[in-house]
Amino acid sequence: MPRKKITLGFIGAGRVATGLASGFARAGVNVVAIASRRIASAQRLAKRVRGARACAPQEVADRTDIALLTVPDDAIEAVASSLRWRAGSACVHCSGAADLDVLRKAVADGALAGGFHPLHMFGEAGDPGGLAGCAIALAGPDALVQRLARLARALHAKPLRLPEGGRALYHAAANFSGAFVIALIQEAVALWGKLGIAEADALAALLPLLRGTADNVEKLGAAGGLGSAIARGDAGTIRRHLDVLARQAPDSLELYRILSLRTIPLALAKGTLEPAAAKEISALLEKSILKRVD
Ligand SMILES: NC(=O)c1ccc[n+]([C@@H]2O[C@H](COP(=O)([O-])OP(=O)(O)OC[C@H]3O[C@@H](n4cnc5c(N)ncnc54)[C@H](OP(=O)(O)O)[C@@H]3O)[C@@H](O)[C@H]2O)c1
Repeated sequence: MPRKKITLGFIGAGRVATGLASGFARAGVNVVAIASRRIASAQRLAKRVRGARACAPQEVADRTDIALLTVPDDAIEAVASSLRWRAGSACVHCSGAADLDVLRKAVADGALAGGFHPLHMFGEAGDPGGLAGCAIALAGPDALVQRLARLARALHAKPLRLPEGGRALYHAAANFSGAFVIALIQEAVALWGKLGIAEADALAALLPLLRGTADNVEKLGAAGGLGSAIARGDAGTIRRHLDVLARQAPDSLELYRILSLRTIPLALAKGTLEPAAAKEISALLEKSILKRVD
């Protein structure tokens, strides 16, 4: 007998709901109900998703097999606790950091609780984006995770099961490949700004470097993809970097030092940095912090 098509609903019609609901609709998954704090937000999204109706949050819980809570992290527990859940249905949040105990009211009502976190930076709420190739971190009891994994694959994304209690560390770590990369780009743009290079020109020059770096890591792994003065063991260049930063951008010196120290083990693993040169570079970096303290 063919498997019954599951029905999905969303509570919270913002960026993630827009990306997921549009992706599911394109993939032929049944999105039937969308609610939000303001009905106008739900209506806006429901208009874009064939078969979906804007409704109240309770109707999402009443009518769907899986209700995805796509509200801000801090609102998840209050929203889940304010509704009555059907036994056998599922209440699933999309936060990367929140544990499943914020859904305890749904579990008390007999529903299953789960997590479905797309490892993707969604754009504005009008932008459906695309999740092909992205990881989606899943959590919950096995039977639910299997259903969520099928949903992830319908979006051409890769299901990633997290160990119990591991969500906060998983999410904190992901910043190093997401938001913090933006902070690092901004650091470079600001430093080039001291040379009179406009932000648009800086981004046009830096983004191909970033893409090339990501391509290298994809092809060769983290250590294999590494290039830079540290990878070459170029202590003279590191000294020049430290000197210019100390004089012209002392606020960037600590960040440069910490990241350089983290780069040394990678360069050693790559095999292009000799242990003696690594020691010399480490000593230079340590001295730079002592100089600042002086
Ligand atoms: N943004 C990302 O890149 C990203 C990526 C992965 C996971 N996530 C996770 O996905 C979830 C949603 O994030 P988002 O970026 O989509 O947030 P968002 O764009 O701010 O959208 C949140 C939506 O929830 C609605 N809402 C707020 N409080 C509500 C309440 N009490 N009841 C019902 N609806 C409420 C908002 O209401 P109205 O419009 O109706 O006022 C808004 O439409 C979060 O758990 C976040 O951690 C985000």
